[in-house]
Amino acid sequence: MNLILLGAPGAGKGTQAEVICDKLKIPAISTGNIIREALKNGTELGQKAKSYMDAGALVPDEVVIAIIQERLAQEDCKNGFILDGFPRTVPQAEALEAMGIVIHKVLDIEVPDETIQKRLSGRRVCEGCGASYHVEFKPSAKENVCDRCGGKLVIRKDDQPETIRERLKIYHESTEPLCDYYKKTGKLVVINGQEDVADTSALVLKALEA
Ligand code: AP5
Ligand code: MG
Ligand code: ZN
Repeated sequence: MNLILLGAPGAGKGTQAEVICDKLKIPAISTGNIIREALKNGTELGQKAKSYMDAGALVPDEVVIAIIQERLAQEDCKNGFILDGFPRTVPQAEALEAMGIVIHKVLDIEVPDETIQKRLSGRRVCEGCGASYHVEFKPSAKENVCDRCGGKLVIRKDDQPETIRERLKIYHESTEPLCDYYKKTGKLVVINGQEDVADTSALVLKALEA
């Protein structure tokens, strides 16, 4: 199954992508994680993306489209994949279509803006594998250590209050129109993000069965 996860920053895309990945054994592909990895390794892509990402702005379409094209060509995507954070603009969705990629379902996780600030300010991410935690809602077993890989948990640079506001603004302007885009294809399923991670996962897994 080829899936897209839509939703505002902090809606829980990454968290649910991990759940689906464990359940369906298909790779979760986060453009944000790929870019952060490139940044960490000081590659050309990382240098190109840094200023945009730190400011909470979108990285130019052609850059992320090239990332996705390369990633989806890899062997492990043959039996399906979960796109977390791509597409994020209508031109990105059109590019995906132009690549001949068939999408089976688009899950839009809806969470009110007021909840986002609280979620993102408590988020911790693994430096090693990108897994996402929350100090209150999804703590790791051992403080600041990743349950999955033992990596160190850190605060993302773009999880500062002003940057979160900017990311939300850009989400409403550039990404929300994708809900209409995919509604027209009949593939959109709206998931009401719940207060609890497990409750949201239950809704997500139910939507995949339907
Ligand atoms: P990216 O890394 O994709 O960030 P984002 O979309 O802003 O989304 P987040 O990762 O912040 O949120 P999430 O929905 O994954 O939430 P999470 O599961 O962590 O992108 C970063 C940047 O990269 C962009 O700003 C841009 O610069 C660039 N970029 C990436 N893709 C791009 C593209 N396609 N085009 C252009 N630029 C691109 O959950 C958040 C927190 O809440 C966690 O702490 C979690 O534990 C907690 N939580 C989750 N669910 C629940 C729940 N149900 N109840 C309580 N807490 C919960
Ligand atoms: Mg994420
Ligand atoms: Zn990890």
